[in-house]
Amino acid sequence: MDSWIDFQGKVVIVTGAASGIGRAVAQEFLNDGARVVVADMVAEAPAFEGAGEENFLYVQTNVTERDSVLHMAGQAVEKFGTVDILVNNAGINIPRLLVDEKDPNGKFELDETVWDKVTAVNFKGVFLCAQAVGRFLVEKHSGVIINMSSESGLEGSEGQSVYAATKNAVNSLTRSWAKELGKHGVRVVGVAPGIMEATGLRTYAYEEALAYTRGITVDELRAGYSKSSTTPLGRSGRLSEVAATCAFLASDKASYIHGVTLNVAGGKTRG
Ligand SMILES: NC(=O)c1ccc[n+]([C@@H]2O[C@H](COP(=O)([O-])OP(=O)(O)OC[C@H]3O[C@@H](n4cnc5c(N)ncnc54)[C@H](O)[C@@H]3O)[C@@H](O)[C@H]2O)c1
Repeated sequence: MDSWIDFQGKVVIVTGAASGIGRAVAQEFLNDGARVVVADMVAEAPAFEGAGEENFLYVQTNVTERDSVLHMAGQAVEKFGTVDILVNNAGINIPRLLVDEKDPNGKFELDETVWDKVTAVNFKGVFLCAQAVGRFLVEKHSGVIINMSSESGLEGSEGQSVYAATKNAVNSLTRSWAKELGKHGVRVVGVAPGIMEATGLRTYAYEEALAYTRGITVDELRAGYSKSSTTPLGRSGRLSEVAATCAFLASDKASYIHGVTLNVAGGKTRG
């Protein structure tokens, strides 16, 4: 039976795809017949099933640096002749409290270094990649940009204010760019995962910081991941569920979906 979704001939760029959600998204597009460009900071090209010279390119990229992003987009077009879809997925999260009354000079109070790091990747990086790739899409009058948001961007999140703020800002970019690019035949949509199965983002340092900001232990934090009081479906999301959503949104099956961010969060509505 033919696949429900087919990306034969399409070229897809996925940022931050050496790990986690991005990796699952890149694998999904490869499975669906696309040629895939992975753009990530890591030095070594990640391995994917079914990837070869003819359908895969890795470009080491720092999404926070304009020259690096322009180089990546140029490499993609040089190798495959075009670009059709961008998944703006690279992101980081460093939990911090606005005010740590227990330890104002401690490592878990928000400072400018953390603020600048998180906003550079999650917010500026999305802009730089969308602009570099958006130029090609506008010129060819077709294409799709998918911005990876987070459910926490809508509701805010205790201990993750700067992260949630960048994701709400990304939702706003999605809405505004949809208004700008729609008339050029380019769709812009967002995907907002909730609590997912563990990715590279969920390091011990991340869990320790998040637990601290919420006044609980790491074990208590972990116990909350699958609680139905937090996530009505009572389980963490699978990376493949976010990947499938991206494939659907990038496909012609979603040809009238534009300017919205879709929660893929098992019903969770609080950050
Ligand atoms: N994991 C979750 O529960 C969850 C929930 C909601 C949203 N998200 C979002 O999904 C996206 C992917 O997260 P993940 O959980 O898969 O994380 P991850 O840490 O597993 O993967 C992130 C990838 O981004 C890359 N990256 C980081 N900074 C970069 C930079 N400056 N330039 C290029 N690449 C860079 C990393 O090398 C890594 O490969 C992020 O935008 C994140 O905010 C994740």
